[in-house]
Amino acid sequence: MRKKIVAGNWKMNKTYEEALTLVSEIDNMVKDEVTGEVTVVIAPPFPYLQSVGKLTQGNDKLHLAAQNVSEHESGAYTGEVSARMLQSIGTEYVIIGHSERRMYHHEDAQTLYQKLKASIAQGLKPIFCCGEPLEERDADRHFDYVGQQLHDSLSYLSNEEFDKVVIAYEPIWAIGTGRTASSQQAQEMHAYIREQLSRLFDAEAAYNTSILYGGSCNPGNAKELFAQPDVDGGLIGGASLKSRDFTDIIKSF
Ligand code: PGA
Repeated sequence: MRKKIVAGNWKMNKTYEEALTLVSEIDNMVKDEVTGEVTVVIAPPFPYLQSVGKLTQGNDKLHLAAQNVSEHESGAYTGEVSARMLQSIGTEYVIIGHSERRMYHHEDAQTLYQKLKASIAQGLKPIFCCGEPLEERDADRHFDYVGQQLHDSLSYLSNEEFDKVVIAYEPIWAIGTGRTASSQQAQEMHAYIREQLSRLFDAEAAYNTSILYGGSCNPGNAKELFAQPDVDGGLIGGASLKSRDFTDIIKSF
């Protein structure tokens, strides 16, 4: 059975002190208020991973994610962080293919495939992001665009490798804009993604894959989004930086 997941992507925000305060607040709120079966994933910036991981160790619901990973195994890649390093400090998930990395760091489908492969080989669970820009949606090409993204990075994985992957659908026009996809737009894309996954892998793998929605998700719209049959949670940016909002989103299931 697929998991319900709410993941907080802190992006490039917070000082060390602020990060520790935020994670302690989330830890306490989740302990006190979250009763349902939900996996909460926190993706802080690299320098805080280990400390955030230590603070959340005693809480079964909280899991650690990195925001990025190198496609290389090890060696002369200045500034890069490998999957093995992440694994060795207790990181469980890794975000791969976020639109900001595709856009600002020119990560192409092949690089993303290599990142997936390198992460899975170390036992990390990738959260693979996909999503169309506004012009593709306006031209009614959003399904094809997302289908191509899935095909181009995932189709080389074996069924066994794909087993570890979580998908996040994040329409680019909804990220950080306050303009969220309607629950109907999210549901129809998530159903489409699941259908594509059943073609790339098989029906069982598709059924068991958690597909998260991301893009201006907040405590006001999370309930309706999460109520959709193919929406298995959220990848939260801005609202994950406020413990109250993030916890309220987690409680929206
Ligand atoms: P947002 O970001 O919630 O601030 O729109 C989502 C994301 O980029 O993962």
